[in-house]
Amino acid sequence: MGVLEIKDLYFTYGGSDTPALNGLSLRVDEGEFFGITGPTGAGKTTLACCINGLIPHFYRGRLQGRVLVFGEPVGESTPARLARSVGSVFQDAESQVICADVEQEVAFGLENMGFSPREMEERIQTALELVGLSGFRQRPTAWLSGGEKQRLAIAAALAPLPRVLVLDEPTSELDPLGTREIFQVLRRLNREMGMTIIIMEQKTDYLAAFADRMLVLEAGRAVLEGSPAAVMRQQADLDRVGVRVPDVARLALMLGIGRDENLPLTVDHGRSLVEKWLQKRGQSPFHTGKLIS
Ligand SMILES: Nc1ncnc2c1ncn2[C@@H]1O[C@H](COP(=O)(O)OP(=O)(O)O)[C@@H](O)[C@H]1O
Ligand SMILES: [Mg+2]
Repeated sequence: MGVLEIKDLYFTYGGSDTPALNGLSLRVDEGEFFGITGPTGAGKTTLACCINGLIPHFYRGRLQGRVLVFGEPVGESTPARLARSVGSVFQDAESQVICADVEQEVAFGLENMGFSPREMEERIQTALELVGLSGFRQRPTAWLSGGEKQRLAIAAALAPLPRVLVLDEPTSELDPLGTREIFQVLRRLNREMGMTIIIMEQKTDYLAAFADRMLVLEAGRAVLEGSPAAVMRQQADLDRVGVRVPDVARLALMLGIGRDENLPLTVDHGRSLVEKWLQKRGQSPFHTGKLIS
């Protein structure tokens, strides 16, 4: 089923002449881990706002085209109704986390949704468990690290158990370890709960390793779409747009190894392909190790 269907979407912010989205079409199916990348200003945040209803319900501007979430036009829904099916996580966890302690933060999103106290309790527990914050329930939010705050923002967004989670650069303030943790949480939600994940992210190393399919935006248009391997093969286009090809993929392309979908996007996969390549050439990886040391 189509979670998201976008057809010929144009959006220009009020007061601006340049369209932020310029003829975008896109479809995301239920259960996908879908990654959207592109340089700063490409339209990632604007697209996220079109999916969660901030456009047109909050931001003013000129909108043309269709945005359907579970078959329903976003413009004809209300933000409150949309919030039941679409959970949102924004770039800046610092300003997104507003309550005094962890429990209140997760409960906040559930209030006014008509859950009984027992259901609320269950959902708070489940959400904190899923993001690995079970032991943090009574902790003041001011004590949390950047990564913990970002995980809390995700817990608050997923507590109502939306069928789709839209995340706008949720790891932008995190170090590599924190970033990996967030992606692992998202993979778990996707694999274990079947939650559809739509994530805007500039860190292509992680996006390519975790997403099922990805889209590259440039100036409000889709320039590439496909499996991470298919997209990352287009090195010349990506260099021109300003999207980073992960080092491991760049190395494989240079050596001519990892054909088609076998293009390595993780270090482990890359290492095993390079070892095979060296063996074929009569050089064992141990030999290389000796040379280095
Ligand atoms: N609130 C706004 N008002 C006017 N223009 C905006 C606003 N937000 C973003 N833009 C413009 O829309 C374009 C797309 O921005 P954005 O969606 O934030 O891109 P990204 O998230 O990929 O960096 C940019 O040219 C940006 O300057
Ligand atoms: Mg943005």
